Amino acid sequence: MNRIRLNLEKRSSNSYDICIGTDLPDRMGLIMAKNNWASRYVIVTDDRVGALYGESMLGILRGLSLVVDRIDIPAGEKSKRIETCIGIAERLIDLGADRTSALIALGGGVVGDITGFVASMFMRGIPYIQMPTTLVAQIDSAIGGKTGIDLEGGKNLLGAFHQPKAVFIDLAFLKTLDDREFSNGLAEIVKYGLIEDPSLLDLLETEGQALRKRDPALLEKIVLRACQIKKGIVEIDDTEKGLRRVLNFGHTLGHAVEAASGYGLSHGEAVAIGMAASLRLSEKMGYLKSGDRERIDTLIESLGLPRRMPAALDPDDLLRRIGRDKKKTGDRVPFVLIRKPGMPFMNGGVPEAMLRDTMGELRG
Ligand code: GLY
Repeated sequence: MNRIRLNLEKRSSNSYDICIGTDLPDRMGLIMAKNNWASRYVIVTDDRVGALYGESMLGILRGLSLVVDRIDIPAGEKSKRIETCIGIAERLIDLGADRTSALIALGGGVVGDITGFVASMFMRGIPYIQMPTTLVAQIDSAIGGKTGIDLEGGKNLLGAFHQPKAVFIDLAFLKTLDDREFSNGLAEIVKYGLIEDPSLLDLLETEGQALRKRDPALLEKIVLRACQIKKGIVEIDDTEKGLRRVLNFGHTLGHAVEAASGYGLSHGEAVAIGMAASLRLSEKMGYLKSGDRERIDTLIESLGLPRRMPAALDPDDLLRRIGRDKKKTGDRVPFVLIRKPGMPFMNGGVPEAMLRDTMGELRG
């Protein structure tokens, strides 16, 4: 098992380990028992992950004399609503949970975001553990304490920073991930290559096919590297005052596209489209060479991800959604752009007209 320590110096008691390996539940249970984080635990999972792993997780943790219950919520982004959180909180009360209890988020990004959000509020805040089961959650959303739910107006508009006690990344979960969900994670790896480590792009180009076949050694290498990048960024800027914004590369438009598609496009597909747009904007504003943009366009396609957005999506609707998400200055929209792979920056704002044109070019 690899262990990466995420150090939060300002609030060192919030520092935690990211444990990465295979078949981790036993190790996780022993670490939980040793650390005594809570008097009892409640696993929050979704009905899909719960059906596959819920019983065995309960069995392993109870076998270590931990007091553990389980709550299942419906799978999918549509669960990321306040009603789901209230439902979980009511069930926690029924189960006898209190301030000395802790939650375990067993699932993908949706389960992690909801569980972290409930943990941030239940009895004014209780601990939680992340056990991410999808590639996106393992390399991104489970790390860094961002929690949240969606409103009608957009994604993640209600949330809190609440760091987990630990993150347990079990690579064995990736074996049962469907291809579309796996590709979501590949989009986030392209993002890490673009914002921090261009060698990841080289690796995706040379080993992309082996990765799509889920070569275990390659997966471990890539997950480890992505977690190191994410932890490095969160350590410097845990509450997203500056540097952490680079993690939103491709997400400004991506979130708008994802919500506008009624979540018909997956997160990774929407982020891939968002990255393709950000690359074009970087090129149009004179920062990025065309050759670099073309190279990444080719890579995105080779990974089975889209670059173009459905023609049914209306650029004006997308602009409205982006405007709600980001603070505009006049007619300029803040965007993360890149000068070259590995060199991201927040520019003073992309002119709205240029963004509308770019979306037009990418339609259909
Ligand atoms: N997923 C973006 C962040 O954690 O900041």
